[in-house]
Amino acid sequence: MTLRDQHVFITGGSSGIGLELGRQAAAAGARVSLVARDPARLAAARAAIRAAVPGGAEVVTASADVAVEAEILGALQAAEKIHGPVDVLITSAGVARPGHFAEIPVAVFERTMAVNYFGTLYPLKAVVPAMRQRGRGAVVLISSGAGLVGLFGYTPYAPSKFALRGLAEALRGELQDTGVSVTIVYPPDTDTPQLAEENLTKPAETKALTAGGGLWTAEAVARVTLAGVQRGRFAITPGFQLTALAWLHSILAPVLNWSFDRVARRARRDAAARLP
Ligand SMILES: NC(=O)c1ccc[n+]([C@@H]2O[C@H](COP(=O)([O-])OP(=O)(O)OC[C@H]3O[C@@H](n4cnc5c(N)ncnc54)[C@H](OP(=O)(O)O)[C@@H]3O)[C@@H](O)[C@H]2O)c1
Repeated sequence: MTLRDQHVFITGGSSGIGLELGRQAAAAGARVSLVARDPARLAAARAAIRAAVPGGAEVVTASADVAVEAEILGALQAAEKIHGPVDVLITSAGVARPGHFAEIPVAVFERTMAVNYFGTLYPLKAVVPAMRQRGRGAVVLISSGAGLVGLFGYTPYAPSKFALRGLAEALRGELQDTGVSVTIVYPPDTDTPQLAEENLTKPAETKALTAGGGLWTAEAVARVTLAGVQRGRFAITPGFQLTALAWLHSILAPVLNWSFDRVARRARRDAAARLP
């Protein structure tokens, strides 16, 4: 697929990876919608994208908390009124609050799951049926390296990003042969405001464990992501380390997907053959 003339709807689009995805999608000719909570940061993001794209860009913004279903559905409706049905949904809104398990209140675990998991599920539930009806579309879930391996200090964050992996894998199978692609991205440490905030509470052990991983720019993560989405890739793991981790951590996954798809297709054929 190409991004030209597509409506690309991005949660967490006012900062970091989401903002950069918006800029690159707009530069490729997409109509872009950005969602986040802070209206001032959204306005600045819109201005930055329009200034970066020669001739300007069509950018809609909507303020919403993705953890509140009614708010994110309202933002989707407002964006679709202007830009038409969503062709590409990218869920980049996310929060991370590292620390020692014993010291993190349960409320942080709940809020992390609400934003990272349910804040992804709500817009997916809203756009996938229409995409299926049109027989085309792409959904892109931004997980994390912490969605591939549970790292020290990330007890609230890692499960929320693992949950996205389970959701993406289950949905990928269901949407096979419908024209709607599913992509999940596992970014490494990326130089964004979120990472700067994480560093304020990261335990020393977490800092030591992540020290050798290098630091990516949001620009590079967005570039690898959009290239993979346009090629219809399922899993995107920027860099050698996360690619190796993804393969070795679940060495059988591609074979399992292939086998599951064969069984599911056969069951679908059999069920259709039984219809009167
Ligand atoms: N940076 C990294 O090292 C890294 C590594 C792996 C994965 N990731 C993942 O990549 C994604 C983007 O992270 P980033 O580093 O680019 O973060 P960022 O620069 O802090 O941007 C986060 C964006 O999400 C929005 N947001 C946060 N909570 C929200 C909520 N409840 N409702 C709506 N919008 C919300 C923020 O705007 P408001 O605060 O105004 O709402 C902002 O636009 C996240 O899912 C993160 O977990 C990041």
